[in-house]
Amino acid sequence: MNNLKPCDNNIDQDKPLLRCITCGWGDKFISSLLGQFIDANKETLTDNSALMTEHDIMPNISHRTFSTEKRRFIVSNVSVDEQQTGQMIAAGLVSDIFVLMIDARCEMISNTRRILYVMNLLNIQQLVLVINKMDLVDYSQESFEEIVNTHKILAKELGIDEARLMTIPMSLDKGDNVAKKSHMMDWYQGPSLMEHLEMVSFDDVASAKPFRMSVETVERSDRDFCSLSGHMLAGCVEPGDEVRVLPSSEISRVESIVLVDDVGESVGPTRAQKLAQITLSNQIDISPGSILCHKGNACEVSDQFRATLVWLSEDEMLPGRAYLFETCASTVQANVASPRYVLDVTNQEKLVANTLVKNAIGSCNLSLDQKIAFDPYNVNRSTGTFNLIDQMTNQIVAVGFIEFALRRAANIHWQALDVDEAARAEQKNQLPAVLWFTGLSGSGKSTIANALEKKLFAMGRHTMLLDGDNVRHGLNRDLGFTEADRVENVRRVSEVSQLMLQAGLITLVSFISPFRSERNMARERIGDGQFIEIFVDTPLSIAEERDVKGLYKKARAGEIKNFTGIDSPYEAPENPEITINTVSQSADEAADIIIGQLQEKGFMN
Ligand code: ADX
Repeated sequence: MNNLKPCDNNIDQDKPLLRCITCGWGDKFISSLLGQFIDANKETLTDNSALMTEHDIMPNISHRTFSTEKRRFIVSNVSVDEQQTGQMIAAGLVSDIFVLMIDARCEMISNTRRILYVMNLLNIQQLVLVINKMDLVDYSQESFEEIVNTHKILAKELGIDEARLMTIPMSLDKGDNVAKKSHMMDWYQGPSLMEHLEMVSFDDVASAKPFRMSVETVERSDRDFCSLSGHMLAGCVEPGDEVRVLPSSEISRVESIVLVDDVGESVGPTRAQKLAQITLSNQIDISPGSILCHKGNACEVSDQFRATLVWLSEDEMLPGRAYLFETCASTVQANVASPRYVLDVTNQEKLVANTLVKNAIGSCNLSLDQKIAFDPYNVNRSTGTFNLIDQMTNQIVAVGFIEFALRRAANIHWQALDVDEAARAEQKNQLPAVLWFTGLSGSGKSTIANALEKKLFAMGRHTMLLDGDNVRHGLNRDLGFTEADRVENVRRVSEVSQLMLQAGLITLVSFISPFRSERNMARERIGDGQFIEIFVDTPLSIAEERDVKGLYKKARAGEIKNFTGIDSPYEAPENPEITINTVSQSADEAADIIIGQLQEKGFMN
């Protein structure tokens, strides 16, 4: 076997990188395994995390890196525990080979079906079953074959091609078939685990796939070319190659390539994983977040996808909420629709569900706020995976892989209209705006909005008032008060108020709208200058004391569930344009104050 040594980024970068997940070992076993590799080579091995320059999709998963003469390795160890399925999948999304350890004394660990199913789903190229503790079954070929056969039958049931499955008898404790071939099992003709990891042929994403580079910075010069830098995600590129940049689809030619590590020195074919600077021969429409490809072998572009999502967060998915959608190249906003189904990983059934909870795997449609360049996951894993991030906490709530773009995205075109928002507003001689009232139930939102609309109407303004209670009688009659329903309630009303805005109206919206995330979504949908958040700041104790509709009393008695302020949260605005204190001001005074502030701030002519 070749020498094993700590990874040296400069020397080892050109070696193919094999990303490996181990499962069923525990951290202690991994140390013991690596220890044996080291002993076999009389070299020292250290952790080296610096190699994780790729899209960091494996938060909180411990991994070790090392290299032999032939290859670099990243080994991540994940738990068999069903509660950790999400982590296993996050690691699997970027791994080439999966090594599952099975105890030779038991026929099949109960989790094997689920684990193999998931690894197959992730399209992992090589699945290795290591039958450990062979010393405890007297190195019996019969025992080994029995276990192997059981697993082959299982693999067949799961649709796993036998060519992708490798089985190795081993004893980690005795060092049999770990680093070196064991003489205790002469009946076994195959390689040791380490030999297999060194020799196994795999589709090295670093070079075998079509060229993809993420564009991270763009510099334009006075002269006729532009210079980009970013990560090589896959494939090779050479000076003179014709390239296409997506999503803009513009074409150019590569003048020169410089590796960022050794700036100044132009190199030949530049391989994946490296940070590179590329100069293009002309000025084209290209911005950070784009992907550079070969002209004839470009990736796809879309803003609507079918994707498989693996939910990692303790907080369940809220369909309709805008999450950040982070790919290896860009970050945009995404709305996730209710799952089409969730997978029951223990028996591979598709189940109906409204949401995804921690560790659930579901198929969902996503709609982005702008087009991105991508590849389906089974074409290229770097450009086909993404993280979903909660905008408030900045936590990764899910990882996903893109199955395909939804055709409807390409078939629905925006219809340009001759009479536009500006024309409609001009006819009404007003600046259209959305006045978004938020506050607890009984805070006085609707009373103030009503008083304000009367005044605006008397001033000759063209208005519309959307009130939560009223809209819930029609458009939103199918929605209740769970978090998910409130998210959808507010998403719909922000779309409707956007249409009212285009009609040139001053639109008053009076909804509790308890979550910052959805109010921010409305702000973005409507546009900062035309969205005026009015916080009706009435303390819970006062709203409850007033209890105009008698609902607080019912909520306290447990007759109404999920009541805002009682057993459902209210997230007060952090920077509202206007705050109204209903303790010291009457509704009429509040309406006058709002008109004054709208004029003062230039929102009303
Ligand atoms: S929101 O939270 O989804 O924005 P919305 O403004 O549409 O709520 O509706 C709130 C109104 O519904 C309240 O003023 C109250 O009259 C009524 N209501 C009924 N059940 C609840 C509940 N569980 N929580 C809050 N309001 C409720």
